[in-house]
Amino acid sequence: MRILLVVAIALIPLVAGRDTGVARQSSAYEDITSCPEQYGLQTYAHPTNCDQFYKCANGTLTLETCENGLLFDGAGSVHNFCNYHWATNCGERVYELIPDPARNPDSICEYAFGLFKPSAECDIFYYRCAYGEAEEVACEKGLAYDDRSHSCNWPDLLLDIGCDPEKVVGFRCPDVSTLPPNSLVRQFLPFPRYAVPNDCTRLVTCVNDYPRLISCGYGSAFNEDTLTCDDAENVPQCANYYKE
Ligand SMILES: *[C@@H]1O[C@H](CO)[C@@H](O)[C@H](O)[C@H]1NC(C)=O
Repeated sequence: MRILLVVAIALIPLVAGRDTGVARQSSAYEDITSCPEQYGLQTYAHPTNCDQFYKCANGTLTLETCENGLLFDGAGSVHNFCNYHWATNCGERVYELIPDPARNPDSICEYAFGLFKPSAECDIFYYRCAYGEAEEVACEKGLAYDDRSHSCNWPDLLLDIGCDPEKVVGFRCPDVSTLPPNSLVRQFLPFPRYAVPNDCTRLVTCVNDYPRLISCGYGSAFNEDTLTCDDAENVPQCANYYKE
C-alpha cells in the first residue's frame, strides 16, 4: 500500500532551464551543481525533494537519499542527516512516504526508521526501528508512550488513550481530606507531594489526584522531613545512595 502524504507536485515551481542562464528565485532552495565550499562537510536541501539532500565532503558533491521513513530539513539527525518524517519541516518540498518495501509482514517497523507503539495503548515501552530492526525502548520511569507526539509523557495527560496513572506510577494519591490539619504536605496543595517507598531519588506529586513521578536529579534525594529534594548527605537513609 502506498501512502501519498504530500504530493503537491503541481504547485512546485519548476527549476528554470539552464539554457537561459537565469536562476529563478521561486524555489526556497537553489539546486546545487558544485560545492560552494571546498573544505569540511556541508549539507544542502534538495530544491524539490524532501527525502533527498546534497552533501559536500571537502568539495565533493553527492546527492543523498534518506533511508525509508526519514526526511531532510537540515535539523535533527537520526541517521545520515535525515530525521523522522513527522519531525521534519519539508516546506514545499515533496516526498512520497512508502512503508518499508523490505518489511517482514510480522515486523512492527512500518518504516525502516521510525518510532512505533506496541499494540496496547499506554505502554511504558515503545519501539525504535533502524534498518527495519525494532529495538524495545523503555520510557523514563513513571511515563508512558504517546504515539501522537512520539514521546513519553505523564500518564495523567494520557487518560484519553486509556492510561491509568496509578498503575503506571504505582502510587495512589491519598484523599486530600484525610491529610492531617497543619501537616507539611498541606503546604504543597493543590499539588501535594509524597515520598516513594524504597526510592531515594524520586517523589510523587499529585495533580488532580493523579500521581506523577518526579526525579530529584543526580546527587539529590527526597527528604521526607522537608518534602523537598535535598543533598543526599542530608537524608540519612539515602546518604550512601550515590556512594559505591
Ligand atoms: C577533509 O579532509 C581532511 C584532511 O584530509 C580530513 O581530515 C577530513 O576528514 C575530510 N573531511 C571530510 C568531510 O571528508
